[in-house]
Amino acid sequence: MMENNKDIKKDIVILSLETSCDETASAIVKNGTELISNVVKSQIDVHKKFGGVVPEIASREHVQYCDKVIDEALEQANYDFDDIDAFAVTYGPGLVGALLTGVSYMKALSYALHKPLIPVNHIHGHVYANYLSKTKPKLPFVCLIASGGHSHIVIMHKENEYKIIGRTLDDAAGEAFDKAARVLGLSYPGGPNLSRLAIGGNKDALLLPTPKLNNKYDFSFSGLKTAFINSCHKLSQNGQDIPLKDYAASFESKITDILAEKTIEAAIDYEIPNVCIAGGVSANTVLRETMSELCAKHNLKFYMPQLEFCTDNAAMIASAGYFTYKNGIVADLKLNAIPNLQI
Ligand code: KG4
Ligand code: ZN
Repeated sequence: MMENNKDIKKDIVILSLETSCDETASAIVKNGTELISNVVKSQIDVHKKFGGVVPEIASREHVQYCDKVIDEALEQANYDFDDIDAFAVTYGPGLVGALLTGVSYMKALSYALHKPLIPVNHIHGHVYANYLSKTKPKLPFVCLIASGGHSHIVIMHKENEYKIIGRTLDDAAGEAFDKAARVLGLSYPGGPNLSRLAIGGNKDALLLPTPKLNNKYDFSFSGLKTAFINSCHKLSQNGQDIPLKDYAASFESKITDILAEKTIEAAIDYEIPNVCIAGGVSANTVLRETMSELCAKHNLKFYMPQLEFCTDNAAMIASAGYFTYKNGIVADLKLNAIPNLQI
């Protein structure tokens, strides 16, 4: 499926497409770090009324918008296809129909325009969102990846080489945020809404359990989520109001403390001086502040993506694509969507 590509010129301009879930996005990035243009067409309004992403609707929306976001990315950059050296596309993990629309579109474009197509793992993309910041992370680094579908702690010593040292055993961090938010009556996507509600709330209002796990870098959020939901239900059954602000603050504080503490512990134990965060949950202000404080306390250098590159976008796919390309990996027309693709 893949072939080697050793002929890489100095500047590489990549145009990417991301369609793994509910954002149709395209971006142009030079040399993996220099953002030229960035377009995200969110489907939030379409899925909101269903309380979550409806896969079939997501695929249909992507079909409608793939060409539009790409045209807009070129227009923003004032580029045409002649200025593009290679294409990058997310081929997993994600919703199979959604991924397929993007993969098929980019295979056709790459074939028609005789340009290489770089297959990109969406999770790698989240890590590389850090490379779009003014200050780029230095290798080696520990990276916490916390999104709606994934929670991992990885160590990278080399570009594109991921050593997984911790992962969630059940729910992803973003998923737990979304489920807790739903119990508080908040709409999809719950994470950012819960976080907004938590501002000024008392984080000590509700005591939540910390799971004990065999691998201290692993996560488990399902017990925490269940304890939270049960506490809310108990109040409702007794005819009492849920103190929404305080409960939101308690949940947010617990989950972000767990994420931050395990990541810092990994950096200290493995003697890695640099720490990054990635994925939708890395947009969370409390997590960003906690990580920043803990890194300063332990003399670790902390990096984080700009807010717009934490949640799904195509700039991170172009960035990861550049480093994948430099490793000599390009796809051929047999490239397929892999919904359960691992790191
Ligand atoms: O990375 P992402 O955009 O999509 C996936 O690859 O899953 O992550 C989306 C997840 C959702 O669960 C969303 O609720 C969560 O990230 N999220 C947040 C915040 N912004 C997004 N969770 C907590 N606080 C936020 N500010
Ligand atoms: Zn994502």
